[in-house]
Amino acid sequence: MLLENQVAVIHGGGGSIGGAAARVFAREGARLFLAGRSLPRLEAAASVARDEGADVSIAVVDAMDQDAVDRHVDEVVDAAGRIDIALNTVGFDHVQGLPIAETSLEDYLHPVVGYLQTNFVTAKAVSRHMIAQGSGVILTISTPGARLTGRGLIGNAAQSAALEGFSRALAGELGPDGVRVVCVRPHAMSDALATSYTGEMFGRIADAGGIPMDQWMNGLVGMTLLGRLPVLDEVAEYLAFAASDRARSITGAIANLSAGALVD
Ligand SMILES: NC(=O)c1ccc[n+]([C@@H]2O[C@H](COP(=O)([O-])OP(=O)(O)OC[C@H]3O[C@@H](n4cnc5c(N)ncnc54)[C@H](OP(=O)(O)O)[C@@H]3O)[C@@H](O)[C@H]2O)c1
Repeated sequence: MLLENQVAVIHGGGGSIGGAAARVFAREGARLFLAGRSLPRLEAAASVARDEGADVSIAVVDAMDQDAVDRHVDEVVDAAGRIDIALNTVGFDHVQGLPIAETSLEDYLHPVVGYLQTNFVTAKAVSRHMIAQGSGVILTISTPGARLTGRGLIGNAAQSAALEGFSRALAGELGPDGVRVVCVRPHAMSDALATSYTGEMFGRIADAGGIPMDQWMNGLVGMTLLGRLPVLDEVAEYLAFAASDRARSITGAIANLSAGALVD
């Protein structure tokens, strides 16, 4: 197993990517601590992970709140003795698809501040323990907006590019302490639409363009080299690999899971 006896914390652990990662990390032998906003979603993700045989704890924690996240992470270390993997899959609805003239400053800053805040908060909390251990992996999630251009992307592009920059800089800071940082950049996933905030968000963009959602998603497919979008399980499997010792020489990397919509 890839993650046998590894202790993993997933912030946003009840979400679409968080829940998919929890299942795969569980199958690969990790002990899991899922933290998130809504108890029912955490319970559902924990139940699936327990079916894979994992020891899973859940906690309602606001991943924007430094004190709350610090306290929870300290409790994890008290309970499990260490923390090997920290994955932030927090996600929330925000404005995409509007031209700058129709975008308020507040709507523009909402994803920029929110995604940068939660990733700072969780990375700061876990890095204290990982530095002391001399090991650990921090996983962040960005979006193709980091490298795309076009109308309606400014908030998403700014937050995604900034989060990738944050992840690179953090890798440089923590590398000498034996801590790796990997940022994973998946394209939009159709099988996440039913549970992810992206269902509402992409739905609004499709509605504004006067086309059905599946047609709008097909437009994204048309931009890929592989003629398909990634699915949740693929992203979760990649995250498990990136967290594992098999990826021990990978840090400061942005993993491009865009099915060729972007090439490096
Ligand atoms: N889905 C995609 O196609 C896609 C593609 C590329 C990148 N991404 C990125 O992947 C990440 C996760 O997306 P997702 O699709 O998995 O979203 P999701 O299914 O909506 O899950 C996000 C999770 O984050 C939780 N959350 C939100 N604010 C929180 C807070 N303050 N404290 C704790 N938990 C909080 C949500 O809680 P609730 O359960 O209470 O809502 C939810 O469980 C995002 O960064 C997104 O940009 C997604």
